[in-house]
Amino acid sequence: MDFRDKALDDNKIDEAKKFIIEGLISYQPFVFSDNLEVGVGFEFEQQRYAGLVHYPDIPEHLRASPELARRLLADRNRTEFHLANRRLADFYDSLVEQIIDHTAGGIDNNSFLDVGCNNGYIPISFSQRGAKRATGCDRQDFSRVFNFLNSIQGTNAEFIHAWYEPQQHRIAGVEAFDVVTSMAMLCHVSDPLHLLAELGRLSKNALFVWTLFNHDDSNVVRYGTPRGDYPGDVFPYCFDNLTAISVPLFHKSMELMGFSKIIELPVPQIHSYAWNGYPFRGFLAIRNP
Ligand SMILES: C[S@@+](CC[C@H](N)C(=O)[O-])C[C@H]1O[C@@H](n2cnc3c(N)ncnc32)[C@H](O)[C@@H]1O
Repeated sequence: MDFRDKALDDNKIDEAKKFIIEGLISYQPFVFSDNLEVGVGFEFEQQRYAGLVHYPDIPEHLRASPELARRLLADRNRTEFHLANRRLADFYDSLVEQIIDHTAGGIDNNSFLDVGCNNGYIPISFSQRGAKRATGCDRQDFSRVFNFLNSIQGTNAEFIHAWYEPQQHRIAGVEAFDVVTSMAMLCHVSDPLHLLAELGRLSKNALFVWTLFNHDDSNVVRYGTPRGDYPGDVFPYCFDNLTAISVPLFHKSMELMGFSKIIELPVPQIHSYAWNGYPFRGFLAIRNP
């Protein structure tokens, strides 16, 4: 989302900078001004830690902090960074539009939940387009960022600090929604079938999952090496990276939960959306088309 046409005042820009310094804003693509932009698009395309935050006038004493140093973009890459993040934003926008196109009854008659929503790009997009209710939930508390982005965009996306707990196989505190989406989250869990079961339970009409798919043509889950993102997640919950399911396993799971139509949503081919040779793909499962 590009907020430059909103000519954000100094207070808003300062607020965005504070969230960036706190580490709460960096992954999804947002442009606050010509000199303040975030997004993971450039790193995806470069396949390395190349910068998530363009903030050239960051105070010197903060530049030295290891957490911030890892995220800061080298100014010479600003143009490529911006273009890569525009491609990432186009990708999110295309998915949102396609999901709406496939949603029966019109966007204003449907409620949407995004699981693992991060800063809320997807719920804010649904809210902006007139959703009856647009909600996101995440393991990290992004409620203040939601308030901030809603105030800029004039939306009313709602954040629930609720997350998938593998020990319970549940996302406690969240009711069922008409349409559920979950992007780049299943690849971070050890028990993908239980997560799919919970996402299916929460989806009244449709479920969209964007994740890593392996190339197996039978029912297979492949695991990467645990990355240790969540130190409290001990074995067997520690497989937090590169979990890749097979397409037949996804199809069978959806069918067993009563989804009768499953379609792959086409997206621009961005070569970066493949890790260890496994591509990210997105499938929309619909109960009663
Ligand atoms: C790779 S990011 C993807 C963010 C967003 N879905 C997107 O595609 O832009 C993964 C997100 O999932 C969240 N997450 C990880 N484990 C989770 C869990 N068990 N329950 C809910 N959210 C989780 C993280 O906090 C993070 O915001």
